[in-house]
Amino acid sequence: MHNQSKMKKIVVLTGAGISAESGLRTFRDSNGLWEEHRVEDVATFEAWQRNQALVLEFYNQRRKQLYEVKPNAGHMALVELEKKFDVQIITQNVDDLHEQAGSAKVMHLHGELKKVRSTVDENLVYTLDGWELKKGDLCEKGSQLRPHIVWFGEAVPMIEPAMELSAEADIFIVIGTSLNVYPAASLVYYIKKSTPVYLIDPHAEMLSGVKNLTVFREPAGTGVPMLVKQLMDSGL
Ligand code: APR
Repeated sequence: MHNQSKMKKIVVLTGAGISAESGLRTFRDSNGLWEEHRVEDVATFEAWQRNQALVLEFYNQRRKQLYEVKPNAGHMALVELEKKFDVQIITQNVDDLHEQAGSAKVMHLHGELKKVRSTVDENLVYTLDGWELKKGDLCEKGSQLRPHIVWFGEAVPMIEPAMELSAEADIFIVIGTSLNVYPAASLVYYIKKSTPVYLIDPHAEMLSGVKNLTVFREPAGTGVPMLVKQLMDSGL
């Protein structure tokens, strides 16, 4: 076993695309729609105030589906990488497929589908028992529980630590994200100029301003194992 402190640091930024082959639809594939609602209109605090039942239903349906799917070869390959590198996952996904696959260090920028939190004290976070959060499910202080999700327009509390981790990366890997949503998308600009960037996405577009870029125009289930084999065989 390598001594962790000597291992090179790999930071992996993932988005909905890494979970697509597990059966969870990406936002772009469903052109941002859910049951004829625009995601931007449901995943917001205003929607929660205006139509709490709709927002509860949106997340209940996604949580229910999460219990029916499992990690794919892309998630599994990232676990393999941990044998030789110090791997930090930074994900925009709210599913727990990286954890289910066995990744040791996973940071969720946009929250976690299986967690809920108090609406009077955001530090009161609970793991939901089962897939359904209902009106009347209260926190220990008696307030309605809400999804532990960062809604559009809400602060992204983990973005500063994510920027610091990105700045320390020896290798930066981007998998399955359209890099449309900020501040998550800005992480690729916090890395050292010398840090090689690998982008895995079947519809990958070039990343402007990134010097040392290698693109795998492949789905994650194929592309991630390919890249991991390359990195494991390298002298790095
Ligand atoms: N393997 C890899 N990438 C894929 C695959 C696949 N099998 N299928 C699709 N993709 C790519 C698409 O080409 C696209 O670039 O995954 C990306 C998905 O982009 P989005 O649907 O925009 O998802 P994401 O980038 O994660 O969205 C970011 O926006 O909706 C909000 O908060 C939500 O975290 C989400 C954020």
